[in-house]
Amino acid sequence: MFCSDPESGLRAIIAIHSTALGPALGGTRFYPYADEEAAVADALRLSAAMTYKNSLAGLDLGGGKAVIIGDPRTAKTEAVLRAYGRFVESLGGRYLTACDVGTYNADLDVVARETRFAHGRSEAYGGCGDSSVLTAYGVFQGMRAAAQHCWGSPSLAGRTVAVAGVGKVGSWLVGHLVDDGADVVVTDVDQGAVQRLQARHPQVRAVDDTAALVRTPHDVYAPCALGGALDAETVEALPGRIVCGGANNQLATPEMADRLRERGVLYAPDFLVNAGGVIQVEDERHGFSFDRAQAKASGIFGVALRVFALADAEGISPAVAADRLAEERIRTVGRLATIRLPR
Ligand SMILES: NC(=O)c1ccc[n+]([C@@H]2O[C@H](COP(=O)([O-])OP(=O)(O)OC[C@H]3O[C@@H](n4cnc5c(N)ncnc54)[C@H](O)[C@@H]3O)[C@@H](O)[C@H]2O)c1
Repeated sequence: MFCSDPESGLRAIIAIHSTALGPALGGTRFYPYADEEAAVADALRLSAAMTYKNSLAGLDLGGGKAVIIGDPRTAKTEAVLRAYGRFVESLGGRYLTACDVGTYNADLDVVARETRFAHGRSEAYGGCGDSSVLTAYGVFQGMRAAAQHCWGSPSLAGRTVAVAGVGKVGSWLVGHLVDDGADVVVTDVDQGAVQRLQARHPQVRAVDDTAALVRTPHDVYAPCALGGALDAETVEALPGRIVCGGANNQLATPEMADRLRERGVLYAPDFLVNAGGVIQVEDERHGFSFDRAQAKASGIFGVALRVFALADAEGISPAVAADRLAEERIRTVGRLATIRLPR
């Protein structure tokens, strides 16, 4: 759906990829796209990814995503956010929105003044707050599952974990790793982020950049910055046995998953292990309970083990195995809606 409100300046696109498992949930990205075509392409790509993520997370949700075209630093006004909220409302609940790049809990509180279908709200409104908390927790569960699959024990104690990007997700993840007894080495383009982390965890080592991090001996590589982290050069150079991190769209191209497999590196699919955030956001639909959401995010451990086992059994990459499990649930559970109920 194209949303246009010239008075406020709102230009947005809402993409619904699937409602087979429930309403399409996905965040709202506020970004200065070069043109409308680029915005449409991003909305379509991201909405499809949410269908797979939500299915694999076991949520009763389809996949959707929205983009608002503009620079969030200058274009994000009350009128724009509320105009956008009215378009979300007009879809009658087929699309549920939340935070993404360029939007925050406080923005969703404004959107929610016009719609019942805004989640990812601030704690003051009974919302789930910062979703990076359970995103990182889920990544940690995925990493424990990968350790179990590779080494026969879920413990990361004594293993060296290299974390690329210590923003919100990366820094929470480091906390779990340190608690588990892992040796952690990090990098970030923002030196302030590294210093804040080391103030909390002085035992954490830091290196200059991701190229240096990849060269540093380690057992597990955790991309927690931007997309495309697993390019050909990085994939050839990785010294460890596991890749498991919070960043979205880690594979620069789909073939990278096969190359990792050929090199004997176990790749924990990003959309599987970083689903803790959407699990945290979805829980708002039931009146947010952190404990319940965390219990659900713990399930990532078991799903990851299933994905790794399927990949081994079929001789495919875990990325393809994860897609298959997501599609199977959409097929078998999504079909149930054809059993008609009286209205
Ligand atoms: N926050 C969530 O709930 C959530 C949920 C799912 C997925 N993700 C994904 O996780 C990743 C991190 O999200 P976040 O919320 O922690 O964002 P963030 O902006 O808080 O952290 C990203 C960090 O990466 C650093 N960085 C950027 N480019 C880098 C580079 N080239 N090398 C090293 N460090 C670099 C930044 O300085 C920043 O500290 C993103 O890919 C995001 O899409 C986040």
